[in-house]
Amino acid sequence: MSLSSHDVFNAPDWWRQAVVYQIYPRSFADANGDTIGDLKGITSRVPYLKDLGVDAVWLSPFYPSALADGGYDVDDYRDVDPKIGTLDDFDEMVAALHAAHIKVVVDIVPNHSSDRHEWFKAAVAAGKGSPERDRYIFRDGKGENGELPPSSLRSIFGGDAWHRVTEPDGTPGQWYLHLFAKEQPDFNWDNPEVHADFLKTLRFWSDRGVDGFRVDVAHGLKKNLDPAFDAMIGVDDGIVESGDGQHPLWDRDEVQDVYAEWRAVFNEYDPPRTAVAEAWVRPHRQARYSSPAGLGQTFNFDLLRAEFSAADFHDVVDRNLKAAKEIGGSTTWVFSNHDVVRHATRYGLPGGAVGAGAPGAGSTTGGNDGKQWLLDGGDPSAVDQAKGLRRARAATLFMLALPGSAYLYQGEELGLQEVSQIPDADRQDPAFFRNREVEIGRDGCRVPLPWTREGSSFGFGADGSHLPQPEWFADYAVDVQSDDPASTLNLYRRALALRHELECEEALEWTQVSPTVLAFARPDGWSAVTNFGTEPVALPEGEVLLASGPLGDGRLPGETTAWLRR
Ligand code: GLC
Ligand code: CA
Repeated sequence: MSLSSHDVFNAPDWWRQAVVYQIYPRSFADANGDTIGDLKGITSRVPYLKDLGVDAVWLSPFYPSALADGGYDVDDYRDVDPKIGTLDDFDEMVAALHAAHIKVVVDIVPNHSSDRHEWFKAAVAAGKGSPERDRYIFRDGKGENGELPPSSLRSIFGGDAWHRVTEPDGTPGQWYLHLFAKEQPDFNWDNPEVHADFLKTLRFWSDRGVDGFRVDVAHGLKKNLDPAFDAMIGVDDGIVESGDGQHPLWDRDEVQDVYAEWRAVFNEYDPPRTAVAEAWVRPHRQARYSSPAGLGQTFNFDLLRAEFSAADFHDVVDRNLKAAKEIGGSTTWVFSNHDVVRHATRYGLPGGAVGAGAPGAGSTTGGNDGKQWLLDGGDPSAVDQAKGLRRARAATLFMLALPGSAYLYQGEELGLQEVSQIPDADRQDPAFFRNREVEIGRDGCRVPLPWTREGSSFGFGADGSHLPQPEWFADYAVDVQSDDPASTLNLYRRALALRHELECEEALEWTQVSPTVLAFARPDGWSAVTNFGTEPVALPEGEVLLASGPLGDGRLPGETTAWLRR
């Protein structure tokens, strides 16, 4: 099947090779000048997104929330946070995006609600043993008076995974489970009402024209709690080690039953709604989430975790394309998101290697994911920014030539570096407050975007930004880069435009695999070559369409990717 630039938007399987741009709404564009990005801000920037050439946007949560975890603590799944807009603003935004032929994916957070959700308030008010409490995971404490948590389980953000409530009569009472912050009580997915309510939510947004869903912590949900209560299980280990479908908390086989139900709802629509799972699972388990009978796609974090090396990139791509082919799915690629240190910075860190783990999970490779560097004060002079950006541009151009869909995170098209030094008083991430010994948190990749060199908050909004922007943001501003042919923004624009022109079957053939160079060809004669080394190498034959950096007389410099046509 071939998708030409004209029919991607209307093709039922548009998602298979889509470029999806992640918007972190409160840090994208602020239309009303209250320092927080909003839906009207997104609508105002649709022309920018269209010029950039993305096929879809994925919005991180915009639901009513106290922002205990940047909106991943949802008070109401079927409304818009008044701080960010209204349902009418939402409809207007969807219409504007669709008019620009951009699909809309929203984030759905099924593992936990916020502690301000009406169900949770009802659960606390209704007391022990009530049907209201059964929608969450309440247990009696241990110790003589139940004063000790039911188990030693730790939260992903640090500290206990249990919090004690005060019963309606004012006495200290039961404890509830929160694998994330204490403001994020975990749902009980053995309760049919929880199932029904999420189906309602999926239909609510699908009816409003949403094209797909990003499923937060998709490998959570189903738990086999009783053993988990007694065992001393590090939550981090859970994410990394789960692999047989039997772990008490993560990636249990029966979580797929939930997604089979969801799939039935997605298929009620024409075209069927799509979904992508955030599932930090072992590679051999990813296919369960991406099967066509389930969510259809899963984030594949393997490239994000890989070292910048030909061998690692080759392995990751080869393995994932084979796995996708086996199940008839399509694979995804990603280097940056709102949970990890920006890849232009990771690639410039000392140690050469890079790897980034799930939130709270620490590094999952021997590589440098930047967390320790941030914890040690995030000294910018420790980063070789030029090298980081050079590698990031090469890696991104490599990714954008691959079959499958590519996920971009707002600001990476500007080559933005991580904001590593934020005053403690300005930090917002719960990981900072709960888990200080282990990580400083994720605020550094969530700083509002610079749109203009001059002006209040670099054009983000009329009156400042909710996280402080550093002065050097001026150099990265959209207006500065727009007219510079060599800018990272223009590299992304040209790459996405070409990708549309060249878009072809989901196949790839390796044409060179050496310790420092990878080259592959796509069916219609489009090929990409990346030099992972530092010494220039010969360019393969063909017309050069685009390169991630300047080419020297027919040679491909180190840490550079070129696209060619035969
Ligand atoms: C996911 C989100 C992350 C959030 C967590 C809890 O990992 O990407 O930002 O903190 O889930 O909802
Ligand atoms: Ca605003």
